[in-house]
Amino acid sequence: MTDHGEGLRGDEIRALDRAYVVHSWSVQSALDPLPVVGADGARFTDADGRRYLDFASQVVNVNLGHQHPRVTAAIAEQAGRLCALGPGFAAEGRARLGRLLAQVTPGDLTSSFFTNGGADAVENAVKLARWSTGRPKIVARYRSYHGATAGAASLTGDPRRWSVEPGVPGVVRLLDPYPYRCPAGHPYDGVPPVPGRPCTHVTGPGACPVCSGGPHLEEVLRYEDPRSVAAVLLETVAGGNGVLVPPGDYLASIREVCDRHGILLILDEVMTGFGRTGRWFACEHWGVTPDIMTLAKGITSGYVPLGAVVVSARLRDWLQDHEFASGLTSTGNPVACAAGIATIETLRDEGLVERAAVLGERLGAGLTALAGRHPAVGEARGLGLLWCLELVRDGETREPFVPFAAKGEAAAPMRRLKEAAMARGLYLMTHDSFVLVAPPLVIGEDELDEGLALLDETLTVADDLVAQA
Ligand SMILES: Cc1ncc(COP(=O)(O)O)c(C=O)c1O
Repeated sequence: MTDHGEGLRGDEIRALDRAYVVHSWSVQSALDPLPVVGADGARFTDADGRRYLDFASQVVNVNLGHQHPRVTAAIAEQAGRLCALGPGFAAEGRARLGRLLAQVTPGDLTSSFFTNGGADAVENAVKLARWSTGRPKIVARYRSYHGATAGAASLTGDPRRWSVEPGVPGVVRLLDPYPYRCPAGHPYDGVPPVPGRPCTHVTGPGACPVCSGGPHLEEVLRYEDPRSVAAVLLETVAGGNGVLVPPGDYLASIREVCDRHGILLILDEVMTGFGRTGRWFACEHWGVTPDIMTLAKGITSGYVPLGAVVVSARLRDWLQDHEFASGLTSTGNPVACAAGIATIETLRDEGLVERAAVLGERLGAGLTALAGRHPAVGEARGLGLLWCLELVRDGETREPFVPFAAKGEAAAPMRRLKEAAMARGLYLMTHDSFVLVAPPLVIGEDELDEGLALLDETLTVADDLVAQA
């Protein structure tokens, strides 16, 4: 026994883990996962009793912070009453969670199909788009992640797709609105996109067609035949691929082109939903409502696996006399739904969405200041409590800190940075040359400042690596 109430010591957990557990996206022999035995609020505790500030909300899912008592109580209460129920039954939890989702999502998003997580929400959204339009193709973006199942990985644009190639057919790609590295080669104007602020990249003569959205989509549709396209699938703000906030009227412009061609808009809000960006859902920043929204992660604050496909009233009506030709053993699991209800009610009752907007200003100011101080930081960008520091070898040329899709030795500088943060008690999520900063919405102001100070120290490691190069 350890002092922390667990049956196994840290070294025993480690040994069992190495012998019997396969971890995501990794060569197993390269791993040495930290045994974690507890957590509360914005911190977690390892088997030696060391505490870490969780500046990533695990994988940007623990929006309420760890072990929120209202959610743990709802899970325990439901577990004592009814743990499992077949897909064909009506249950209070499913029905109430469906109604809550209709209330908190924008526009006429109305009915939900419940899934086990984000990837199968995306799979089912795309299937529904294909059935209801009778069209085969889906337009998605390169710098995107939609999940690891075969279909969701095929829709994913980033290199996590490569392992399933040639993948599910019918996926067509857009380039990404990314002013810092404009794929159409337009010069960087030094100002990260923010909702409601005009962006020089997408206004005036010579505006970038890719960063404007509609013109680029229109061109791709011309070559593909718009009548063959069922849906455009986008992360509202691309998350894991560097928090790419769409500039100007990008989303409205995409929506307009979709509407003109009878194409559905699916917004993947798996990472950006449930207050993460300072609104219930990120698309509200631009007043754009999709036909289908995919959700997971923050829907239960990550406490129990759950996802949802929320569909417009028009699609709900279509489903009244057409088959929803899909299913899951655990759709609307009662314990997961109880966690979802408690999470949404807590976000609402504690004003945490508004809090994320306010704290986001503090976090954004802090990260922008770090970007100004550290040569290794090329840009700080984000929204609410979803931010990214993009690291570079050279601020002028914007050469990435590690090469695109780096693995093994090539990715070692990012690993060293993450280890340097952990050594200081700060947990960060990294991907390519991106440091994602996404603390729980309940984080205290003092904790936020503490995290920024630890990050400041940690970034000197990146500066040194760049200076040595
Ligand atoms: C935007 C987005 N969509 C989908 C997924 C897949 O979700 P899950 O891992 O629950 O399948 C993720 C996971 O990170 C995500 O960030």
